[in-house]
Amino acid sequence: MSAEPEAAIENLYLEQRTFPPPSEFAAQANAADASIYQRAEADWQGWWAEQAGHLRWMRGWDTVLEWTPPHARWFVGGQLNVADNCLDRHIEAGHGDQVAFHWEGEPGDTRSLTYAQLRDEVGRCANALQQLGVGKGDRVNIYLPMIPELPVAMLACARIGAIHSVVFAGFSSRALVDRIEDADARTLITADGAFRKGQTVPLKDNADAAMQQTSRIGACLVVQRTGEDVTMRDGRDHWYHELVGGQSTDCPPQAMDAEDPLYILYTSGTTGKPKGIVHTTGGYLTHVTATTRLVFDVKPDTDVYWCAADIGWVTGHSYIVYGPLANRVTSLLYEGAPDHPAPDRLWEMVARHRATILYTAPTAIRAFMKHGPELPAKHDLSSLRLLGTVGEPINPEAWTWYHQHVGAGRCPIVDTWWQTETGGIMITPLPGLTHAKPGSAMRAFPGIKAVVVDEQGQPVERGQGGYLTIQRPWPGMLRTIWGDDQRYRDTYWSRFGPDVYFAGDGAKLDEDGDIWLLGRVDDVMTVAGHRISTTEVESALVDHPKVAEAAVTGRQDPTTTEAIAAFVILRAGYEPSDELAAELREHVAAEIGKLARPANVLFTPDLPKTRSGKIMRRLLKDLAEGRELGDVTTLANADIVESIKQHTTAGG
Ligand code: WTA
Repeated sequence: MSAEPEAAIENLYLEQRTFPPPSEFAAQANAADASIYQRAEADWQGWWAEQAGHLRWMRGWDTVLEWTPPHARWFVGGQLNVADNCLDRHIEAGHGDQVAFHWEGEPGDTRSLTYAQLRDEVGRCANALQQLGVGKGDRVNIYLPMIPELPVAMLACARIGAIHSVVFAGFSSRALVDRIEDADARTLITADGAFRKGQTVPLKDNADAAMQQTSRIGACLVVQRTGEDVTMRDGRDHWYHELVGGQSTDCPPQAMDAEDPLYILYTSGTTGKPKGIVHTTGGYLTHVTATTRLVFDVKPDTDVYWCAADIGWVTGHSYIVYGPLANRVTSLLYEGAPDHPAPDRLWEMVARHRATILYTAPTAIRAFMKHGPELPAKHDLSSLRLLGTVGEPINPEAWTWYHQHVGAGRCPIVDTWWQTETGGIMITPLPGLTHAKPGSAMRAFPGIKAVVVDEQGQPVERGQGGYLTIQRPWPGMLRTIWGDDQRYRDTYWSRFGPDVYFAGDGAKLDEDGDIWLLGRVDDVMTVAGHRISTTEVESALVDHPKVAEAAVTGRQDPTTTEAIAAFVILRAGYEPSDELAAELREHVAAEIGKLARPANVLFTPDLPKTRSGKIMRRLLKDLAEGRELGDVTTLANADIVESIKQHTTAGG
């Protein structure tokens, strides 16, 4: 029984509160008329077509949607260019001098780029890529820190119709090799190094290690960021400032078909092999442009918007680069850690730039909570008018803290549910219209049909839980998994039928019909807002010469949502030790990236398995969380559970 009835009651109280949109906010909101939901429902294709009409098309579309489940084609016959929509269109309308990005490096150096300057940079970079032989449909791998050259490189690809594949700069060379190989990328854009928490990360060295393992990269552009020594290979490696700096700024945007791919972004699935999620041009841009305008309520002339994510993840693609630029927003772009050099770096930046909109992850909010409300209170955050969260369920305590201590009770909070696969926001309050409930993402964005279903695929009643599905195509949806359409069908469209998208998340409908996300129902962990599959970490562990077998599970963690617990069986002749645990943790960090480093390594003589040999992760989770074990009679090797309990030596 809970020893803290008061806390439990407080939780209940928190979860039942609702927050209507503040009237001042509602009066000026971009989405201010509640009939938007009915309108979109009455003619959802017409609604999306209306959204697409906010963009500049070089050729109008013939058909809004062709839907041959599970394959969708949006705005068929239409042509446009994403970079043209994000840059040229605004410049031609007289906004060339408006700042697109106020960039700040971790050491404190700054650079502001107007829309006109950004277009010039993009034009130069695009011409350099063309000089390197990059053309329409070619894949360009981008492995850069959060510096202006990152959005520039993405937009340069978009301008000439090349497909970018951005790899988060925190990933290891191994992860880079896999992604280069899978996408068959021939060009790599990287930097000498990156700043992170006052240290430098040797990106070019990582890239060199990757290029030793794969021979695909014929040309590598290197941005000089940290100034550290790097090896440049003649004929293959080029300094960005030399090659790009010397180009003409003039590079006309290519007319792209609405369904031409814009990018590939890799995300973890339930197997060790990451999935290359493919997004296309017209539908994707329509979706992110509409959601940026209606969910973040952006006012291009006055807002200073800050999505404090990394462009290496989909949040940055959609809501740092494409959505905000297509809406002519002025954004902040920050290179480093939110708590460097001091834990109030983020608040200090909000105050100094007079940021009006802040979008971040629950894990970051919980990290800030640990330092207490004094830190945000030290800074003038009165410019903020809207707050957002993404990446994982936000617990009511964190929601309330964000609302009170960051938003001073004045700012609506949009808890936005979506995925790499969905391209843009799917479930969210509209800040001027929808009530908010701490912990609930509330309801589907207009035009989206989200249904919580039971095992049989039947919609659940209010008050019930089940699986989240999307039961209608939407413009930003992934089109396939790069090179593996069968996996696309199997992963998303087989559980409940070929026209029902299975998101992989559990969800609950409350008595009002609002949606509460309950986390993943597959073997994907959520660690500090990032998806990591158990299999990925297991493969990295068994790759170590001293490891015979490994099983990985997420266990609840108050800050990062889940922490990784690894159960390891050693090969004969090796003994468990703290040193070995540390070695294995570092091994995983080197193989995948620091994000994937297990919090605990538990050595064990055996693993609990079902008769069919499947590892019982539920049991491991119970063990890792120190819970009492459930019924273990279905175990082929039931006796080992006891022995695991007795022999497990926790390291790390
Ligand atoms: C989780 C990030 C609860 C969910 C944009 C989803 C959320 C996965 C929320 C996608 C939210 C994202 N509430 N859970 N507001 N937003 N998730 O692909 O489990 O990195 O399936 O995309 O994050 O993660 P991804």
